[in-house]
Amino acid sequence: MRLLVTGGAGFIGTNFIHHILEKYPDYKIINLDKLTYAGNLENLKTIEGHENYEFVKGDICDEALVNELVKRVDAIVHFAAESHVDRSIMGAAEFIRTNVMGTHVLLDAAVKNNKKRFHHVSTDEVFGSLSPDDKPFDENTVYAPRNPYSASKAASDHLVRSYFNTYKLPITITNCSNNYGPWQFPEKIIPLFLTNLHEGKKVPVYGDGMQIRDWIHTGDHNRGVDLVLHKGREGETYCLGGGNEIPNIELTRKLLAIMGKGEENIEYVIDRPGHDRRYCISIKKINSELGWHPEYDFEKGLRHTVDWYLANKEWWQRVKSGDYQKYYQEQYIDRK
Ligand code: NAD
Ligand code: TYD
Repeated sequence: MRLLVTGGAGFIGTNFIHHILEKYPDYKIINLDKLTYAGNLENLKTIEGHENYEFVKGDICDEALVNELVKRVDAIVHFAAESHVDRSIMGAAEFIRTNVMGTHVLLDAAVKNNKKRFHHVSTDEVFGSLSPDDKPFDENTVYAPRNPYSASKAASDHLVRSYFNTYKLPITITNCSNNYGPWQFPEKIIPLFLTNLHEGKKVPVYGDGMQIRDWIHTGDHNRGVDLVLHKGREGETYCLGGGNEIPNIELTRKLLAIMGKGEENIEYVIDRPGHDRRYCISIKKINSELGWHPEYDFEKGLRHTVDWYLANKEWWQRVKSGDYQKYYQEQYIDRK
């Protein structure tokens, strides 16, 4: 199988590419990534020159480029997105452009080129915010996004579904909860907090720290994407979650304990505007249809993740200093 992976230099896409090349030695991957601040080719150093892997620096909004690449593959696995809620609050334009318009460009190219198989990677944030006693989100939950990031992902999900209905494009969608694991950009809570603690800095907990997220290891998420790509029913959505609901302050205390630091390192800061209170997602459908369930134990997964960041200090130090962005310039000649 030949796959076009978009956003493969980001956190989850990187992990996906490593997973696919290890599991399916005869698959070919083209990784199309714009290398925004969130894209880092150093994540993929070990597969540079791999005969089944090709990197293309480019924008999913570039119709000509996307069309040329879609022609060369059997399926598209679409990770590329602007992904950070706080950035979307500061300015939504890039979120609308990449997440909505970019998805549209990919969908059109998929239709034009013999209706290529299209898997769209999305988030549980499209469903909005739960109260403590609400039942978990599932595939039938009404969409109710509450910030520009989740609204742009919701729009992209609707577009993807509309292409199934209108053009019979063979699509699937996964909506997944908060991921953690190696190569996550240190603006997201887990890598930000653990690298701050390592540097002797405090950790900024938003508001009262009682917002709840359902954490999943990116390895479990990507096994789910792999399964849905190969065995999912066309036109269907599958929800993925880790079964690890935990308030931010408790997560912070776990990280402090692993890092051997005290509560004096917590700094309560002003809350995120419109901060979603709770996410939790049911995996009943994918579990009963495809047998998927998360395999990582949260405590162990968190410890492994901390160990990975401690063993790969140079990686995140180069991200935090901005040096990682020079790597591409040294390695590749821009196509344009
Ligand atoms: P990320 O921000 O780490 O990576 C995004 C990647 O997309 C980067 O490599 C970036 O360079 C690339 N990109 C951005 N705009 C582009 C464009 N216009 N053209 C080409 N490439 C572009 O994101 P992530 O955390 O790896 O998330 C990947 C996907 O998974 C996203 O669609 C996100 O909505 C979804 N998701 C993320 C989570 C999570 O917890 N991180 C949970 C559920 C779903
Ligand atoms: P984040 O990793 O940004 O993911 P999302 O907003 O997509 O869920 O944040 C996870 C939770 O952690 C969210 O409730 C916001 C909170 N948070 C903090 O309290 N402090 C921080 O510095 C960050 C980045 C997040």
